[in-house]
Amino acid sequence: MKALILYSSRDGQTREIAARIARTLTPQQLCDVLDLAQAPQVEWAQYDRVLIGASIRYGHFQPELMKFVTQHKAALQQRVSGFFSVNLTARKADKCTPETNAYTRKFLAQSPWQPDRCAVFAGALRYPRYRWFDRIMIQFIMRMTGGETDTSKEVEYTDWEKVTRFAQDFAQLPGKLPQNNA
Ligand SMILES: Cc1cc2nc3c(=O)[nH]c(=O)nc-3n(C[C@H](O)[C@H](O)[C@H](O)COP(=O)(O)O)c2cc1C
Repeated sequence: MKALILYSSRDGQTREIAARIARTLTPQQLCDVLDLAQAPQVEWAQYDRVLIGASIRYGHFQPELMKFVTQHKAALQQRVSGFFSVNLTARKADKCTPETNAYTRKFLAQSPWQPDRCAVFAGALRYPRYRWFDRIMIQFIMRMTGGETDTSKEVEYTDWEKVTRFAQDFAQLPGKLPQNNA
């Protein structure tokens, strides 16, 4: 059986993290990596573990995330499952765990699905790629929170070792489906 990694990404960083996790898992397990927005119909019978990663924009995950986990709650709960969130608040050491990252805590409190493992990763700040309004807004937020304000810069805050450790930990979790225990 395979692992499924679903990502909800606007600017590509969550997709990159999903790809890194897939590369880490691959020696032990085949992996499919799919865009959550493009994957309403999942062939669950192929998968025995599933990871969902999603990024934050203006305080919110994309609405597809809650819709998907609500619709597929049973399939998610039956499998080994994990969740990771990606945002810039998590660049701060005191806001980068599921307990201390407000977006992640709120999602877990509201989600009907409770993943077996959860992580929070800092994302990327790529001013030159944002449209004018977003650039100004993010610069304002960065000014308020002591971050990078030079709009000519691209900064990647993602801790790739933390991503790899999370993937390795996720891979070690014992399977839940009957065929895994046979
Ligand atoms: C328009 C915009 C709004 C954002 N809003 C937030 C926010 O409210 N809180 C936060 O922590 N990060 C915020 N971010 C940072 C993103 O979560 C970060 O850039 C992340 O890497 C984006 O992931 P993605 O490339 O997979 O979409 C924002 C980024 C952009 C471009």
